[in-house]
Parts: sequence; C-alpha cells; structure tokens
Amino acid sequence: MRAARFVSLATLAWLIAIGFAVVPSAQAPASDEEFDKLMKSVGATVGAMRKNMEGQAAEALAADAKKMVEIQKNNAAFWTARKTQDAADWATAAMNHAAEVEKAASANNMAGAAEHMKLMMGTCGQCHTKYRDKGADGSYIIKKQ
Ligand code: HEC
Repeated sequence: MRAARFVSLATLAWLIAIGFAVVPSAQAPASDEEFDKLMKSVGATVGAMRKNMEGQAAEALAADAKKMVEIQKNNAAFWTARKTQDAADWATAAMNHAAEVEKAASANNMAGAAEHMKLMMGTCGQCHTKYRDKGADGSYIIKKQ
C-alpha cells in the first residue's frame, strides 16, 4: 500500500516535470475566452493577497503568492504563443515578483512582501495600458493591435 502510493506520487512528480519541460504552456490559455478567465483569477488572487497583507497573515499570503506565480507563468506562456514579447516580459516580471512575495512571506518578512507586491502591481498597469480594451458591452477584451 505504502509502496504503491510512493510510486504514484513519484510518477506524478515525473509527469509534472516532463510536462513543464516539454510544454511550458501546458495550462496556458489558448483562446481569448480562456485568457479572460485567467485574468479574472488574477483579480481574485490579488484581492486575497491584499486581504492577507492587511491582516498580516503571512502563511496565507505565501499560499496566494504561490498561486499567482502559476497564473503569471500561464499569462507569460499565452503571450509567448502569440509572439507578443513585451507582454510576455511583463507577465514574467509579475511572476518573478510574485515569487519574491512568496519567499518573503514564507520568511515572515511582511515589509519585503509588500515591496514586491507593489512592484508586481506595476506590471499589471503596464500591460493593461497597451493590451487591455473595453468591448461594446463594457467588458474587458484584448486590444486589437
Ligand atoms: C501581460 C499582460 C497583462 C498583465 C501582466 C496583467 N494583465 Fe490583466 N488583463 C490583460 C488583458 C489583455 C486584459 C483584457 C482581456 C480580458 O479581460 O479578457 C486583462 C484584464 C484584466 C482584468 C479584467 C478581467 C475581467 O474580464 O473581468 C483584471 C481584473 C485584471 N486584468 C487584473 C490584473 C492584475 C491585478 C494584474 C497584475 C497582478 C494583471 N491583470 C496583469 C493583460 C494583462
């Protein structure tokens, strides 16, 4: 029983490693609709991060930041697939700052976490200014270049 469980975990870890190595964009959104869902999860995760920052809940903040790293990784992969380098770079910067938030929060360094959260939020505006638009119905869409 124990051994079987170990094998399946090892297999899972292997699959994840292979998956990331071969297709870094395994879970990246492919369509505009999927991208919209990704951005909605960015918004929700930022909300949770803010709340945990205010509440000085370092452990919960670290968990949110970890989630954000994954989301921004997919964000970057989406733009890389669309050959839009500057957007991919902003998403990568957001991912790196989220990773720093996770690191700082894990070390209970809330000041450091706040600093990187601020830097992370700077990337949102940069990308939105160039690539976010409002559709006829008022919802957000990807700006046509
Ligand atoms: C690399 C580009 C890029 C980055 C970085 C980025 N966004 Fe976006 N975001 C977009 C685009 C393009 C849209 C419009 C497309 C859409 O919503 O379907 C958008 C839409 C949104 C929406 C509206 C979603 C909806 O439809 O209701 C929210 C909320 C959002 N972003 C939050 C953020 C936050 C917070 C960050 C930073 C932590 C961020 N985004 C970083 C490109 C980006």
